[in-house]
Amino acid sequence: MRNSVSWAVGCLYLAAVAPLAHALDNGLARTPPMGWNSWNKFGCNVSAALIRQMADAMVRTGLKDVGYEYIVIDDCWQLSRDPSGAIVADPQRFPSGMRAVADYIHAKGLKFGLYSDAGDQTCQKRPGSHRHEKQDAQQYAAWGVDYLKYDWCFTQGLDAPTAYSTMRDALLATGRPIVFSICEWGKSKPWSWAPAVGNLWRTTGDIVDCFDCPARPGKEDNGVLQILDQQAGLEPAAGPGHWNDPDMLEIGNGGMTDDEYRAHLSLWSILAAPLMAGNDLRTMTAATAAILSNREVIAIDQDVAGVQGRRLHREGDADVWVRPLSDGSRAVALLNRGSKAIEISVSTIDLGLAPAARVRDLWLKKDVGRLGERLRTTVRPHSVAMLKISAS
Ligand code: GAL
Repeated sequence: MRNSVSWAVGCLYLAAVAPLAHALDNGLARTPPMGWNSWNKFGCNVSAALIRQMADAMVRTGLKDVGYEYIVIDDCWQLSRDPSGAIVADPQRFPSGMRAVADYIHAKGLKFGLYSDAGDQTCQKRPGSHRHEKQDAQQYAAWGVDYLKYDWCFTQGLDAPTAYSTMRDALLATGRPIVFSICEWGKSKPWSWAPAVGNLWRTTGDIVDCFDCPARPGKEDNGVLQILDQQAGLEPAAGPGHWNDPDMLEIGNGGMTDDEYRAHLSLWSILAAPLMAGNDLRTMTAATAAILSNREVIAIDQDVAGVQGRRLHREGDADVWVRPLSDGSRAVALLNRGSKAIEISVSTIDLGLAPAARVRDLWLKKDVGRLGERLRTTVRPHSVAMLKISAS
């Protein structure tokens, strides 16, 4: 056990230093993108009014101050193409057009994102960008788009690396900095090719607002734990400018307890995941706002070294996840997957730290002492202890 753990810790360093052969160099997403996306809460029910209100709420609730930046309209903003092939936004829902939405968002100091699809249609059967990539990219740039999420429905016969590279090149050719978010659900192992193509790539099917929920028959949806388990081993692909994307946040959508939502944010931060809130920012509770805006946990996610954390070990319901940070310290998430409180412990040697290292609990927001020979904490059901442990 000790040997395999030492090997795993060694790999943390290898992953940190191994240069990636080719990574998309558009200068963007040097830390994982943070923002809000309409899909998880609103589905197709998007409009200019909703988006303006969400931008207002992002500023009013303080989320902008802690780093949330992109406001992304997911599927269903588009309606048709005009005779010249130009994409047409739904005039009922966006009566002043997309440039007006972008201007409103930019005036708040935020950034603007849109959604399209590499196929002929989007997942909700709106026009996709296949054979219109250049025209669409130019249109997005003219509107002031800063972020494009690009889906994979209705792509029969297309090759994912080729189709996504076509849109990458079209976006680069506009000269406007546009974060490129690849959404093909992990089907073609995008971690093996997407660092050269996009700034982030989905690694799984869609998240559902549920902590421990295997996919329903015939579906590819996943609870938080099911997504987490699919991230183990993908670490080497992530780094500044190119991130594994375990899907957007469900925090505040009502299907999980606050402990489960704290675990969701903590684990996504260990994973160096994009943090795209997916709830109604206008009406969220104080508890939801406090979870989404925990600066100390967000600082783990946004650590500039950009090394994705990994699972150190799993035993029964106890999972230990570790992420090395740029200042030599480690973020450690002790995760209780089960429905009873348990003690989770890990040896200081396995963590690769010294007994004198100081431990801070990032949800209690207080220093809890020295590490000693062994880290030991009782963790509530479906919960994490999220710790930052200093280098010495
Ligand atoms: C799915 C995607 C979701 C959402 C949805 C919109 O393919 O994974 O995140 O974008 O399409 O139709």
